[in-house]
Amino acid sequence: MWKGRFAQETSRLVQAYGESVSFDWRLFAHDIRGSIAHSKGLLKAGILTVEEQSAIEAGLLAIRAEIEHGDFEFKQELEDVHMNIEAELTRRIGPAGAKLHTARSRNDQVATDVRLYTRDAVDTVSARLRDLQRALIEAAERAGQAVVPGYTHLQRGQPVLFAHHLLAYVEMLERDAARMADARRRIDVMPLGSGALAGSTILIDRDYVASQLGFSSVTQNSMDAVSDRDFAVEVVFAIALCGVHLSRLSEDLILWCSAEFGFVTLSDAHTTGSSLMPQKKNPDVAELTRGKSGRLVGNLMALLTLLKGLPMTYNRDMQEDKEPLFDSLDTILAALEVFAEMIAGMEVNAARTRAATSDPMLLATDLADYLVKHGVPFRQAHEVIGKLVAHSIAESVAFADIPLATYREFSPAFEADLFDCLNLETALAARQAVGAPSPANVAAQIARWKEALSA
Ligand code: ARG
Repeated sequence: MWKGRFAQETSRLVQAYGESVSFDWRLFAHDIRGSIAHSKGLLKAGILTVEEQSAIEAGLLAIRAEIEHGDFEFKQELEDVHMNIEAELTRRIGPAGAKLHTARSRNDQVATDVRLYTRDAVDTVSARLRDLQRALIEAAERAGQAVVPGYTHLQRGQPVLFAHHLLAYVEMLERDAARMADARRRIDVMPLGSGALAGSTILIDRDYVASQLGFSSVTQNSMDAVSDRDFAVEVVFAIALCGVHLSRLSEDLILWCSAEFGFVTLSDAHTTGSSLMPQKKNPDVAELTRGKSGRLVGNLMALLTLLKGLPMTYNRDMQEDKEPLFDSLDTILAALEVFAEMIAGMEVNAARTRAATSDPMLLATDLADYLVKHGVPFRQAHEVIGKLVAHSIAESVAFADIPLATYREFSPAFEADLFDCLNLETALAARQAVGAPSPANVAAQIARWKEALSA
């Protein structure tokens, strides 16, 4: 629209190469909000009359309504969302529109818009994290006293309540939510008023503009303000880590609904069939999420690599920040939403979990602990039980079926009460330390989470 020093039109190839409106159009509502606040700052600074500011505000609101209704045509030759909206405003209201960009650059404008957008999106991510936590807690409640083997190295280790396993993910998501909240504090700083890089000779009350936009504070260095994308990196990192957590939950779910484990059944609404094998019921949502977590990590790498080595201040490279940021936000929002729904429809197969936990080997550590309580040093007890495990395998005899006399050949510390610790209920109830999976502890954790998440 404005030519200035340029005698030639921008090449079509350069227009197509440099445009960002095809993906930054989604900033429109935040761009308009930022522009209205800026126009109020200009009014207060005496640059705009009341009539001009009103015309700008009304014009911008009309444009916003048209975009929301899909009636607005974004033009590639106007490059980005900012120029598209400003050009259309000026076309509609004339000279007042041409005053809007006073004491502002697209550099502080885009930094402000992206912060406003990201702040809103992070609030939605936080709400969805809470929804998934609630779904997991409800699933933990539905699981009741179902016991599963806890695994290390994907080998059966010790028994745990299935609820305890689910609550492990609630803890991870809690840290994700805390990281979102922490990142939000640094998003919530307004760069507007930093101009291209050195502010402006026209003085605007930045605190007043910030209060219009709900920012808690304003940036303190104009050069940093226009070139800082730390907030985007932090959010994309927090999302990547959340994605990694979801990928682990995905893998657990994929294992659990295999015929080999069979611990859970996902609803028909959250699984898909095979075009060839009629019997298949595939956990695609979990597989897709495991896959998408790779994209989330990639987006983080893309952003960090984009910023590395950039000289001060704004560089056009920074236009490349948006696609990874938007993609990470879109991806995690969708994943959290579908996971909450899928977990709500998940059923535990108590028969299969019971069969898996009937493996007496799960209580080998409890037998070692028994010896410790009878004065045997742990390393020695570990050795004794190791030999008993070998005996049990070689003779195909379960711990409960080995006679006391045989036990005493392995260690004279064994007494008749050793058989008490081969009971699953007793074994679980004994795990009473803070954080351990006794049924009483798990019930208390469920109550704690319900209380915390009801707020
Ligand atoms: N579309 C650009 C971006 O997203 C806006 C800022 C352009 N500034 C400039 N001086 N060319 O980064």
